[in-house]
Amino acid sequence: MSAVAVLEKVPLFSQLAPAELQRVVEATRERTYPKNSVILFEDDPGDALYVVAQGQVKVVLIGEDGREVILSVLGPSEFFGEMALIDDEPRSAHVIAMEDSSLIVLRREDFQGILKQSPGIAVALLKELSRRLRRVDEKVGSLVLLDVNGRVAQLLLELADEEGGERITRRLTHHTIAQMIGSSRETVSRTMRELVDRGLIDVSRKDITIKDRAALETAAGRS
Ligand code: CMP
Repeated sequence: MSAVAVLEKVPLFSQLAPAELQRVVEATRERTYPKNSVILFEDDPGDALYVVAQGQVKVVLIGEDGREVILSVLGPSEFFGEMALIDDEPRSAHVIAMEDSSLIVLRREDFQGILKQSPGIAVALLKELSRRLRRVDEKVGSLVLLDVNGRVAQLLLELADEEGGERITRRLTHHTIAQMIGSSRETVSRTMRELVDRGLIDVSRKDITIKDRAALETAAGRS
């Protein structure tokens, strides 16, 4: 897919006139990262913004004992690396390729120039940052207020809502889900099995389907 076709789908850039979008594209370059390679290191200085063209990346914090907490999983048309460019602080987390991934890279000066010229982009960026803050708020709430069953239910609802329906096609292993909700792979596997047995979800090789949204919402403490 061309850089124009990728950036057109990113809400941040989609409102640009074709000529402006073309100027942004000319300032970018494409880079590929093999599965498991580190794209950004926490605490490094920030020199670029990244848009996922293909593949999937995870935003992670890594403890001294090597344990990982996944803050977010980002796929095609999602961006990262904006925080260090906005506040001139070091990178807030590591970003690691979960699959072979192809990214569109926009240098700091070019991103900042575009932000200054286009208030629409600044507003779109604020919108996305608010969306991410809401998700972090939900996550903090679920970590404190819900048991693992509830956290799994909440994550499944969130992932299905992101795809706008009852299906989750994003590829996430039980180990990854465990790292997203602060649990162990074994507990996640057991919880998923229970949700299947109770008829709340269906799991196939390709996707997860929500069968009983009301019951899943109750499990997630939403009602
Ligand atoms: P930056 O701090 O420059 O580098 C790490 C990036 O990870 C950060 O910018 C954001 O783009 C992204 N990031 C950090 N925390 C979150 C989060 N909670 N949800 C989604 N993305 C995040």
